[in-house]
Amino acid sequence: MDKRPTRAAIAVDGPAGAGKSTVARQLADALGFLYLDTGAMYRALAYKALRQGTDLRDEEALALLLGDTAIDLYPAPGGKVRVILDGHDVTDDLRTPEVNASVAQVAGFASVRSDMVARQRELAHHGGVVMDGRDIGTFVLPHAEVKFFLTASLDARADRRYRELVRMGFDVSRDRIREEIEHRDLLDSSRPYAPLSKAEDAILIDTTDMEVEEVVAHMLDLCRQRLA
Ligand code: DC
Repeated sequence: MDKRPTRAAIAVDGPAGAGKSTVARQLADALGFLYLDTGAMYRALAYKALRQGTDLRDEEALALLLGDTAIDLYPAPGGKVRVILDGHDVTDDLRTPEVNASVAQVAGFASVRSDMVARQRELAHHGGVVMDGRDIGTFVLPHAEVKFFLTASLDARADRRYRELVRMGFDVSRDRIREEIEHRDLLDSSRPYAPLSKAEDAILIDTTDMEVEEVVAHMLDLCRQRLA
């Protein structure tokens, strides 16, 4: 018997600042699917570790900390997601420069990832999901019905992150953000366990010169063709 869910799963992967979360959220909304932001789960762990003073280089300590951590993703109006860490809403604390600078380190450990991946597969269990991350099409949901890999030039991605942080009220340097993104891409792509890479059957979209609406419309068309 085929145990695969009757509702499809859609994977959206790509490097930092490629626009994944914005378009994945809108795509999910248009399809009536649940949007699952896996980066937010790694961010929640990094945030908790920073708060508790856990050594971010200590894999065992981080894996133990995660074992004792509840991370829930709740749909919110406008296709958004609230992140609940151990019962507290931490959504607005996860995109700070401090978390940005620490999360790739936390996400690099195999034991952290295997726990997270199990949680993510469970969340996607019933299908009807758009899941965004780095290893969704290659590792978390290798049987996803539609896979996208979004990319954009480093400058475009740095500009987007810079504007996002300025909007949030942070006083940041654009050059510093560019360096951080470059560094994070390198960590995410070169880690030995489930690195950032495009699944062979993923559809590549370069969003450098595309508006969000254009990207979403294109993805929606492709999903409708493939899921028809
Ligand atoms: O998408 P994001 O910027 O919120 O991701 C935060 C970090 O988590 C980023 O450094 C990559 C990592 N990540 C990962 O390794 N695997 C995922 N499935 C999602 C995110």
